[in-house]
Amino acid sequence: MRIPVIAGNWKMHKTLVEAEELARVLVNNLLDLTDNREVVLCPPFTALKTVFEAIKFSSIKLGAQDLHWEKSGAYTGEISALMLKDVGCSYVIIGHSERRIYFYEKNYTVNKKILAALAQELTPLVCVGETLEERETNQTFEVIRGQIKEGLADLNSIQAAKLVIAYEPVWAIGTGKTATPEQASEVHTFIRNLLTETFGEETAFQIRIQYGGSVKPDNIKSLMDQKNIDGVLVGGASLDADSFTRIVKF
Ligand code: PGA
Repeated sequence: MRIPVIAGNWKMHKTLVEAEELARVLVNNLLDLTDNREVVLCPPFTALKTVFEAIKFSSIKLGAQDLHWEKSGAYTGEISALMLKDVGCSYVIIGHSERRIYFYEKNYTVNKKILAALAQELTPLVCVGETLEERETNQTFEVIRGQIKEGLADLNSIQAAKLVIAYEPVWAIGTGKTATPEQASEVHTFIRNLLTETFGEETAFQIRIQYGGSVKPDNIKSLMDQKNIDGVLVGGASLDADSFTRIVKF
């Protein structure tokens, strides 16, 4: 069975004091969390250690929002998988659309990052998704196919089984426009079929596919009711303890 994974992407929000406060309240709110749900907090790099200290005795996991593919070296401003592991991370978001759009991230760099993360036993949360223009010009499936095929190139099925894929339509991120459960489900099923075609049925069945894009307490249930939706990646609504708690406990 695929255990649903609910991740909060804090993006470029929260000072140390704010991050610690939010993490502590969540630990308290989620004391009764059972193992039928995995919860991951992805604060900015600066708050990773602080959040780790706050959650380390709970079942909440720590994730980063990006990484560099080299272990170390002259890469000013970058952070490696080894460093993320060192600070207590077990997950890392890779290829978020904001990285692709504002920092020109490409499928081949996503691929290198996935391999680097897996080499350090970090679970990659690999983001894919189409823009509004791509959807309106009927390119959704082609775009997703390219992102998956190129992003996951050269992975074997053992590696692939460890991934979490996050389908995040760019037009739904931070806009308040959620994909309808049917729209999301259509793409999730397409992704599952693509993974089956690439890695075989047994592996594809194990890969968790999250939905992301304006997930809120009032739409989580209808999304999670879809058979190929195995969790959510939450931006805005993860910054508030009450709304994130309601999402986790949907
Ligand atoms: P949102 O962001 O929930 O604020 O739409 C989702 C994401 O970017 O991961």
